[in-house]
Amino acid sequence: MKAKLISSPRDAAAFIKGGEIVGFPTETVYGLGANAFDAKAVKKIFAAKGRPADNPLIVHIHSMRQLSDVACRITPSAKKLMAKFFPGPLSIVLPRNKKIPPVVSASLPTVCVRMPSLQITRKFLRACGVPVAAPSANLSGKPSPTTWHHVEHDLGGRIPAILKGPPCRHGLESTVVDCTKKVPRLLRAGAISAEQIIGVVGELDIPKAAGKAVSPGMKYRHYSPEAKVFIVKDAGEIPSNAKNFAFIGSAPPPKKAIFSARPKTASHYAKILFAFFRKCDEKKILAIYAQAVPKTGMGRAVMERLKKASHGH
Ligand code: TXA
Ligand code: MG
Repeated sequence: MKAKLISSPRDAAAFIKGGEIVGFPTETVYGLGANAFDAKAVKKIFAAKGRPADNPLIVHIHSMRQLSDVACRITPSAKKLMAKFFPGPLSIVLPRNKKIPPVVSASLPTVCVRMPSLQITRKFLRACGVPVAAPSANLSGKPSPTTWHHVEHDLGGRIPAILKGPPCRHGLESTVVDCTKKVPRLLRAGAISAEQIIGVVGELDIPKAAGKAVSPGMKYRHYSPEAKVFIVKDAGEIPSNAKNFAFIGSAPPPKKAIFSARPKTASHYAKILFAFFRKCDEKKILAIYAQAVPKTGMGRAVMERLKKASHGH
């Protein structure tokens, strides 16, 4: 199989309606979608990605009218966050409506719902007519795809079609907030910052150790390039005998780095990080030194991903 590259959201939606899976763009990262009501179609996502069955998916909607088919109870904090941040890069965990089969949520009683803002995504979701379950469109364990080329690289031989869109504006996955409890809990940092969420709901439980299994998906090693990732305060921390290494950070790159990127802000860092990891793999780089950023705004999301990528070695 070789994935068909598609420009029309309607043509991509035809695959979903036919019980198939399709890669599609969003403003965060590219997703791999299936009809969220169709357990058989959703299972194809897990097979194509090699995703563990105990890692639940996010259900994507285009209209608030679809919400009651996905979640059976909309809590007060969820209402406030949705009013402020939907559509956008925020996913909310709520009690699951039984219309959504257990396979979508790894048999949890909850479901994670998001309404993307990118226009082509909205057109695609409207044409699908059903909520679309989708994880990021990468092979399990690899960095999330931020261009359709990345999707083609990882899954081109495993899925029937990819809806082509622009490179992703944010470059990191959506913020995930569990709104099933009285105090909402941050499960994954993203473009909607902890500060913004607190501004709307007043309080937010922020689990201490990023990378701990607070969200089922966070226990897996992901976002990872082949190279070892080391977080450094500045380029001065790089060992003098380091070889075949890359550097990413706002500091001037060390002369010996064979590849580097110099993001000016945390948002810029977020946008280029996963593409940088993938380029390092292409160049067969052994070590990546990534400069730490303050954990405010998008900086928290960047640090969370860097910590995950640097785990386990
Ligand atoms: O930006 C995004 O969120 C992208 C685009 C495609 O929307 N999607 C994405 O999906 O990043 P994925 O599967 O790679 O990450 C989904 C995250 C995982 O960490 C998963 O564990 C968590 O959301 N999640 C999903 N359902 C959940 C639930 N019911 N309870 C707790 N966490 C859940
Ligand atoms: Mg993912």
